[in-house]
Amino acid sequence: MRVSVDQAAELIINGDVVAFPTETVYGLGADAKNVNAIKKTFLLKGRPSDNPLIVHVSNLDQVSELAANIPSIFDLLAKAFWPGPITFVLKKKSSVPDLVTAGLDTVAIRMPNHPIALKLIRKTGPLTAPSANKSGKPSPTKIDHLLEDYHDELHYIDGGQCKIGVESTVLDLTVSPPVILRPGAISKEMIEDVTQVKIVTERDMSLEQTPKSPGTKYTHYKPKADVQWMTEIPIEFDSNSYYIIHSLDKPMSDKNIISFNGDFNSMARQLYDLFRTADHLGYAQIWIEALPKKNNHPLLSPLFNRISKAISG
Ligand code: TXA
Ligand code: MG
Repeated sequence: MRVSVDQAAELIINGDVVAFPTETVYGLGADAKNVNAIKKTFLLKGRPSDNPLIVHVSNLDQVSELAANIPSIFDLLAKAFWPGPITFVLKKKSSVPDLVTAGLDTVAIRMPNHPIALKLIRKTGPLTAPSANKSGKPSPTKIDHLLEDYHDELHYIDGGQCKIGVESTVLDLTVSPPVILRPGAISKEMIEDVTQVKIVTERDMSLEQTPKSPGTKYTHYKPKADVQWMTEIPIEFDSNSYYIIHSLDKPMSDKNIISFNGDFNSMARQLYDLFRTADHLGYAQIWIEALPKKNNHPLLSPLFNRISKAISG
């Protein structure tokens, strides 16, 4: 059921869970201090309890209440990118319930860049919020996606379509050099520009057995359709396949050919919606044009990461 920001705040303060918009994807918000509300979040989403949640804040004082031994590099990064699509992993204070962090001694924190999210958090205090999808579905970027996953059993604030469309960058600041655990709209290069420190990505460390970001070990959303990279645009398109193409100059009019004309911002914004749409329309195959390697658009890395996950299932 659709609610206002004031109603959402009241529901959350009373221990309920409410979906709210952020600039990346919709989140499933609960009071970060309320263990029962957090339990509800895991149940509602169908999320394994060993996968920790991000705590969303509206000011920096809240960070000092949640995290300990905060390195000075955090101040630089928060100043440069918050509010925004980057989450920092820091040492947690004992006041953060273990349920939030799945027993880890670290806590992931983000200040979202969305007026509704910030207004809500100012009223409620810090909110845990995983992406609001049911486990196994792509993150919701529109209200239709929430209704599809929960029918009418969920309270939500309608913020229209999310601007970015892929989840935040997760940067581990408890290690030196910092490690990107999940790529997002704030790229490695952008972080390096601010910190003047070489940043490592989890891919560079793939020899390590234990994933630092517990969520990455779970099978991600794979549409019912088979997803594959396509290295060349075909001369003839198969009407039984769904095509996501980024390089064409002209928009295509067929409903199974989606073209972005080099606009990777739009491609990221619409990716999860297209995955859901292809399934609704019953396509057995989704072909996605391979992404360019010699282009440092910040959204290419998260696009590559999420599409690869949909391919490998
Ligand atoms: O953009 C986003 O980050 C969205 C919006 C709602 O803010 N949220 C989101 O949450 O994507 P979720 O729960 O779907 O993904 C959080 C990721 C998971 O992969 C989780 O394992 C990781 O962050 N994570 C959370 N706490 C962590 C911690 N203490 N250490 C390492 N990874 C952590
Ligand atoms: Mg998620």
